[in-house]
Amino acid sequence: MSMLIDTFGRAHRDLRVSLTDRCNLRCTYCMPNDFSDWIPGDHLLSTDELMTVLEVATSQGITGIRLTGGEPLLRPDIVDIVRRIKALPSAPKIALTTNGLRLPEMAQDLADAGLGRVNISLDTLRRDRFKELTFRDRFDDVIAGIDAAKAAGLLPVKINSVLMRGVNEDEALPLLRHSLANGWNLRFIEQMPLDAGGSWEKSSMVTAAEIFELLSTEFELTPVANRGSAPAEEFLVNGGPATVGVIASVSKPFCASCDRLRLTADGQIRNCLFARDETDVRATLRNPLLSDQERRASIASLFGSSVLAKLPGHGINDPSFIQPSRPMSAIGG
Ligand code: 5AD
Ligand code: SF4
Repeated sequence: MSMLIDTFGRAHRDLRVSLTDRCNLRCTYCMPNDFSDWIPGDHLLSTDELMTVLEVATSQGITGIRLTGGEPLLRPDIVDIVRRIKALPSAPKIALTTNGLRLPEMAQDLADAGLGRVNISLDTLRRDRFKELTFRDRFDDVIAGIDAAKAAGLLPVKINSVLMRGVNEDEALPLLRHSLANGWNLRFIEQMPLDAGGSWEKSSMVTAAEIFELLSTEFELTPVANRGSAPAEEFLVNGGPATVGVIASVSKPFCASCDRLRLTADGQIRNCLFARDETDVRATLRNPLLSDQERRASIASLFGSSVLAKLPGHGINDPSFIQPSRPMSAIGG
């Protein structure tokens, strides 16, 4: 039973934990190449502090934990973190959102430690374009990372792609063809206003409807029912069993069935990607006046109050929408 139920009746079971705001890529829709506004090192939760928060959250009905970043594989003790999360009394399901660069050397250890699934970000199949989109010449490493995830049994390997108008929208079909041929489970994500540069424009976003049109020129797409709280709308491709997903975060928000909370690397609970307010657990973790029991009770009530303050939706489509002050790399995808 989830105890984290908000004023709209939504039960929260999924916690997305950002382990670092650092990244070894610079995707244009996330971080400018010269980004330097990093979270100070002493603000980052230690692994012991993080585990205290996760022990509390899982006792409140959180059953799934997704590790994100920045790039979560840059956290030096990531394998140990996975092992410790899996050892919690409720043995939560653990997933990871990564750019894949470090998977060749880490995928097997992560799988052995209890990681269940990975989502790997890849917006292009062209090496030259990858370098333009991420400011790093690391395309081959991502492909090797995807292969390593498959070899380690982290299945199905999900690939996240963000299409941008005039940049890579011509790759919708090639990405799907390549995914079908290689057993990747592809999902397109609408570009959201979460970049550190604040340069998002609705007109440059390729919408879910456009993606459906593009893919339908070559493939027959049939909607799959039973989406639950999953953000992706899934379609069978040519009758299945392969599927493709489209995440219409902006044009068709799925806020009404949202079961997600977020914890930033510096110990702030966010009840929405687009929240303007955060709830500080770091201060409670570091308050020397509290006993361990008081600390845990206080963290539990901070989760409770964050959930109660959750708004019905993100409001991106309202004229009054204001982009969150922190970029995706600091919030956790
Ligand atoms: N809009 C949509 N998706 C984004 N991601 C990062 N920034 C954005 C954005 N502004 C994606 C990445 C990755 C996941 C964490 O979120 O591509 O797959
Ligand atoms: Fe790094 Fe992910 Fe941001 Fe790309 S989207 S720069 S891989 S954190």
